Amino acid sequence: MIKTNESVFALNTEKISYVFHADKTGLLIHDYFGKKVDLVDFDTKPLSVKASVLKGTSVIYDTSKDDQLSMDSVPLEFSFPHKGDFRSTPILLRNEKYGYVFDFKFDGHEVREPQKLEGLPTPHNANEELVVYLKDEKANVKLELHYLVFEQANIIARNVVIVNEGELDLEILKALSYNLDLVNRNFELVTLAGGWASEMNKQIQPIVEGKYSIESRTGNSSAKFNPFFMIKEKTATLDNGDVYSFNLIYSGNHLEEVELGHYDLLRVEAGINPFCFDYKLKKGERFETPFAVLTYSDQGINGARLNMHHFTNNHVIPSQWNNTIRPVVINNWEATYMKFNERKVLSIAKKAKKYGAELFVLDDGWFGARNDDHAGLGDYDVNTSKLPHGLSGLSKRVHKKGMKFGLWFEPESVNPDSECFRAHPDWAVTNVDREPSLGRNQLILDLSKKEVQDYIIENVGNVLSNAKIEFVKWDMNRNISDIPGLNCGEFYHRYMLGLYRVIGTLTSKFPDVLFEGCASGGNRFDLGILSYFPQIWASDDTDGHERLTIQSGYFLGYPQSTISAHVSSAPSHQLLRTTPIDTRFNVAMFGVLGYELNFKELTKFERKRCLALIDVYKKNREVLQFGDFYELDSYTDNFAKWQVLSSDKKDSVVGHFVTLQKTNPKETILNTYGLIDEQQYKVDVVPVEHNIKDFGGLINMIMPIHVNPNGWLVNFISKRMTLPGEKESYVTYGNALNNKGVILNPEWTASGMNEGVRILKDFGSRLYLIKANETH
Ligand code: DGJ
Repeated sequence: MIKTNESVFALNTEKISYVFHADKTGLLIHDYFGKKVDLVDFDTKPLSVKASVLKGTSVIYDTSKDDQLSMDSVPLEFSFPHKGDFRSTPILLRNEKYGYVFDFKFDGHEVREPQKLEGLPTPHNANEELVVYLKDEKANVKLELHYLVFEQANIIARNVVIVNEGELDLEILKALSYNLDLVNRNFELVTLAGGWASEMNKQIQPIVEGKYSIESRTGNSSAKFNPFFMIKEKTATLDNGDVYSFNLIYSGNHLEEVELGHYDLLRVEAGINPFCFDYKLKKGERFETPFAVLTYSDQGINGARLNMHHFTNNHVIPSQWNNTIRPVVINNWEATYMKFNERKVLSIAKKAKKYGAELFVLDDGWFGARNDDHAGLGDYDVNTSKLPHGLSGLSKRVHKKGMKFGLWFEPESVNPDSECFRAHPDWAVTNVDREPSLGRNQLILDLSKKEVQDYIIENVGNVLSNAKIEFVKWDMNRNISDIPGLNCGEFYHRYMLGLYRVIGTLTSKFPDVLFEGCASGGNRFDLGILSYFPQIWASDDTDGHERLTIQSGYFLGYPQSTISAHVSSAPSHQLLRTTPIDTRFNVAMFGVLGYELNFKELTKFERKRCLALIDVYKKNREVLQFGDFYELDSYTDNFAKWQVLSSDKKDSVVGHFVTLQKTNPKETILNTYGLIDEQQYKVDVVPVEHNIKDFGGLINMIMPIHVNPNGWLVNFISKRMTLPGEKESYVTYGNALNNKGVILNPEWTASGMNEGVRILKDFGSRLYLIKANETH
C-alpha cells in the first residue's frame, strides 16, 4: 500500500516498509527500508539520518534553503553527481551546454494503476505503482522514478525513466536503475560468481570502506556474476537477522555496486553496465532502465529467499505457467551429442518413457549441415539424412509413443558456414572491416536490427507451426565481441531490446509452448529471461554432486520451478565422477527434473532405482517444484540440507546430502522449518537399496564361501539382488521437528549392518517425506 501526504512516501507490503521524502531543498531523502513500521502524521524524523552537523569539506547543496545539507552525508533516494555527492551515482548525463552537471528537484508524483514498460519486461500484477517526478528546470530533463509494490511477495520493484524535454541532445553515459542508501550495520555482501559449467558459487565478504562491484561485459547477464546479490548483517543466519536481496530484470551487461563511505552510509546500486554505454536521447525521447527488485527480511537468508521465490513465481514468469506442473523431459544431448538419427532418438525416447519421461527434447544437430559445431547454425531446414520424416514425422512418432515433443534452437547465432551467413553476411555482429573473433565457431546475429529479429521470428515461428512442438529449448552459446562501430554505445542495450521483442513475440504467439532458456547452461539465468521463459537450463554440469553447489546458489534468488535439472549418466561427462544414482535423482528433484542419458547405458541397479525414484518425484512433484524452499544448513562443511513445504504446510520433503564420508560420523538431525506446531506428521525415509558390489571384500563376511568381490559370482548376484537400506519412520508433532528435529539412525561405521544403520557413502543422500497425519 502506498501512503503519501504529497511529500512523504511510505510504501508498505505485508512485512516491509520503504520510506522517503522530498525535503525543502527539493532533494529526495531516503528514510528507511526494512521491517514494517508506521509513521506518526507522516513524520519521518525518527527514522532519518539528521543533517544537522556539516562535515568539514562538504559542499552544501542549496545554502538558501538549508545551510547544513550536503548530498554527500545523507541517504539519498536518487542521487546525481556534481552537486556535492562524491559517491558513485546511478546516472551520469551530458549535454552540450551543461556538460555533466544536472540538478534534479522534486516535481510531483502520481499513484496509479501499474503500467508496462515499452521495450523491457515488467513484472505483472503489482498492487500499485508510484511515480515520482524529478526535474532539471534548466536543461529541461525529467526523471521518472517508478515504484511497483508487491504486497504479498514483500517486494519493491524500482526503475528510472529519463525523459529529454530540452532542445539539446542528451547523452546518457550511465543509467542504473536505482541507488539505495542504507546506514551500515556491519554488513556483508553475498554475490554469486562462476563460469561455464560451474555457475553460482556463493561468495561472502565483509563490506569495508571503499567500493566493490560485480558486473557482466559479455553481452548477456553471464555466469561470471549473476545480477542477484544480498547484503546481510554479519550475524544474520539462515533463519534470523537482517537480509536485503536484490535482483535486476535484465539479461544484458549489468553492474552492481556497493560503496561504503567514511560516514557509515552504504550505497547500493545496480542496472545496465555503463561499460561501452553511451545513449543519445533527442528532444521528446525517453530512456527506460530495467526494473530492479528489492526485498528485505528479518528472518534471515530463508526469509529473503522466500520473498524472491514468491515474486518470481507469481509476478515474473508468464502467468500461464504460474504453478503449472512442469513435465519430465528426456533430452538426447549427453546421450548422443550431434551423432543421432531418427531411429536412435526414438529408441532413447521409448526407453525413457518407461522411466517416467513425458516429453522428448531433440537437442542440437537437427538442421542444415549441422553434424558438428562448425556448420549450419542460422539455418532452419531439417537435416533429412538424420531425420528422414522431418520434424513433423519425428514429432508424430514421439506422440505415438505417448510423449510430447520439444526442440532445441539457437536462434541468436550463425556459423560462417551456413546458408544464412552466405545470404546475409551483414547480419552478423562484426566491427567494420575487421575479421571478427569466433566463439564455438560461430558469430552473433545482430538482434539490434529489425530485419534480423523478423528473420528469427519468422523461421522459429514456421518450425513451431509446421510440427507439433510443445517445448522449446532456446540456447545461446557465445559471448559477444567485435561490436559494430556505428552507434557502438547503444549496441548492447539495443541487442537486448531486440531479443525481448523476438522472445516476447514468439511466446505470445505460442502461449502453450513451454520455453526453456539456456545459454551454455547458466550464462543467461536472470529475471529478464524468466519474464518470457518460465524455466532455464541451469548448468552444463549435470554431475549430481556439483549441482548441489550450483543449485544452492540459484536457490538464493530463484525458485525451484525455474531451475532445469537433469539426471545424467555416471561417470559424469564433466568430471568423470560417479555420483550415486540416488543423489543424481535427489538433487534434480529439487528443480524441474528431467533425464539426459540413454537408459540402455545404465546399470540394472541404476535403472531399478530410477523406476523407484521417479515414482517418488511424481507423487511429490507439486511441492518439489512450487513449495516454499528452505536451506536447513548452509552448504559449507560436508553437508547440505534442503526442504520444501507446501502452502498448507502439511506436506514437506527434506533432502540430506553429504560430500566425503568420515569415520565415526556425528549424529544427524532431521529438522524442519514451518510445519504446523500442533499437527502430527509421519516421517518416512524414501527407501534405499544398496548394490552388493559397493561392499567390496566385506561381502565375504556374509558369504558361506570366499568369493572374489570383482569376480563373476558377485557380478552375477549384484545384477539380481540388492540389499535393503535402513528403515526409518516416525510419527511426531510439528513442533518436535521445527524446534529440535528427529535424531536419525547412526551412519555406517564399519561395525556392522542392519536396518538401523544408514549407509550413505561418498556423495550420498537421503530424502525424507513428511506428511501431516490427518487423523491427529
Ligand atoms: C549448450 C547447452 O547448454 C547444452 O545443453 C546443449 O544444448 C548444447 N549447447 C548444444 O549445442
